[in-house]
Amino acid sequence: MIIAPSLLASNYARFRDEARRAQKARADWLHVDIMDGHFVPNLTFGPGIVRMLRKSTRLPLDVHLMCSRPEILLRPFREAGAWGLTVHVELENRLPSLLWDVRALGAKVGLAVNPPTPVSAVKPFLKLVDLVLVMTVNPGYGGQSFIEETVPKIEQVARWRRELGLNFRLQVDGGVDPRTIQECAGAGADTFVSGTALFGKRSLKQAIAKMRRLAIEAAGKAGWRAAASADGVTPAT
Ligand code: DX5
Ligand code: ZN
Repeated sequence: MIIAPSLLASNYARFRDEARRAQKARADWLHVDIMDGHFVPNLTFGPGIVRMLRKSTRLPLDVHLMCSRPEILLRPFREAGAWGLTVHVELENRLPSLLWDVRALGAKVGLAVNPPTPVSAVKPFLKLVDLVLVMTVNPGYGGQSFIEETVPKIEQVARWRRELGLNFRLQVDGGVDPRTIQECAGAGADTFVSGTALFGKRSLKQAIAKMRRLAIEAAGKAGWRAAASADGVTPAT
């Protein structure tokens, strides 16, 4: 099980310390939300921030590009230190070339699907990716409520993964808290992004440990074998 705190919910006045705090708190990855003010109605960080984070923490930087033109951003973010680069399936005809470009840069390849987009959109690309991100809120802001209707999409991706014998990670992002993480893990997710429910807590370490334990228990109950690997891409099938 991978727990990836989202820096979107951290205290920007001490951004570097928040990254270090996540590392000390035994986070597995750091999730970095890149918004371009066009694909989503909000703006966040550029490659310079990722470069600073790269120097500040050993954690893999899981970079989620909510951007209309990721093609011009892949190399700058990779060179800045992104470990994984996730692009959105809503970009349609620019896939799979975007996925190949991420692969060619030597980064882990992620593909995200928004709540209104049918999950069938990701199916043609499953063999090309290291991670599928099922968005559990509409991207753009932290602190939104989990959209329950996304749970069947997680189940569907988990089913395809098993049927096709693939081993990408299955990530969820948005409104993930101690309750919803159990639903997601029960549905087959193994990689959990959480902002508000983690950075809002006084003890990030305890909050991460609790979320991880709840995810492992829920996955066990549902019959998924929990993945212990923190830095690989071995999933929970
Ligand atoms: C939403 C972002 C998320 C966000 C999640 O657009 O992709 O990564 O930080 O935040 P919470 O956990 O607060 O919903
Ligand atoms: Zn995100």
